[in-house]
Amino acid sequence: FADDLSLQSASSESTTMPTKQPFVIGVAGGTASGKTTVCNMIISRLRDQRVVLVNQDSFYHSLTDEKLQNLHDYNFDHPDAFDTELLLSDMEKLKHGQAVSIPDYDFKSHKRKQQSRLINPSDVFILEGILVLHDPRVRDLMNMKIFVDTDSDVRLSRRIQRDTVERGRDIEDVLDQYARFVKPSFEEFILPSKKYADIIIPRGGDNDVAIDLIVQHILTKLGQHDLCKIYSNVDVIVSTFQI
Ligand code: ADP
Ligand code: C5P
Repeated sequence: FADDLSLQSASSESTTMPTKQPFVIGVAGGTASGKTTVCNMIISRLRDQRVVLVNQDSFYHSLTDEKLQNLHDYNFDHPDAFDTELLLSDMEKLKHGQAVSIPDYDFKSHKRKQQSRLINPSDVFILEGILVLHDPRVRDLMNMKIFVDTDSDVRLSRRIQRDTVERGRDIEDVLDQYARFVKPSFEEFILPSKKYADIIIPRGGDNDVAIDLIVQHILTKLGQHDLCKIYSNVDVIVSTFQI
């Protein structure tokens, strides 16, 4: 009977099994397109999984006093406004199961806060921000790339509302910044990064079907991870059975 079973030791392979890495998702899109809203909807539907959300905004360079004096000429929508080297090194660490301390950014002072935020390793790691699909090195660390595609008039009206209410800005300044930097940079850097997305979500958080499909895909991928983990702990796998 034993000859009829082809036995394969799995435990010997367990040492070569890759350690479990988080499923990394990038969520890009124009300002106020609903990126944060989409991420929160995904997180709330992932219930039992450990998920961390990191915002690219945390990696804005702090403005020097000189730059603060010429704030109206500063482009916060240009890739150079971000410390991408720090973002990359923190992403690498998270991907390899290490905790990291990431900066906390203040939109009123345009500087990093004194305190940082501790991010623990997780099953799913979501990086959200206007330019997360711009740099190829950042894209390469992602397992799934999403672009939130929302009408620009809708985005501008949300931006005016948010910046005047939550970020303490004058409406004239919001419109001036939008015309001089936000819109041109969207066209030059953000919109072209849409071509790298695996999934484009029209209407952002209003698109319940797209968010459900994304969550199903993540759960399928996490299930495959769990299966690898179970296999690595099994001593013997019966791979064929003939009578
Ligand atoms: P982003 O992260 O892309 O800047 P947010 O998700 O923070 O966008 O949304 C920007 C603003 O628009 C927030 O005030 C949010 O409450 C609002 N908002 C986002 N999605 C919707 C929606 N589907 N319907 C109505 N308001 C929305
Ligand atoms: O949340 P959202 O994706 O809109 O955040 C990015 C936007 O924040 C950019 O379009 C940028 O113009 C704006 N910003 C700002 N002031 C800062 C940093 C970013 O207005 N100090």
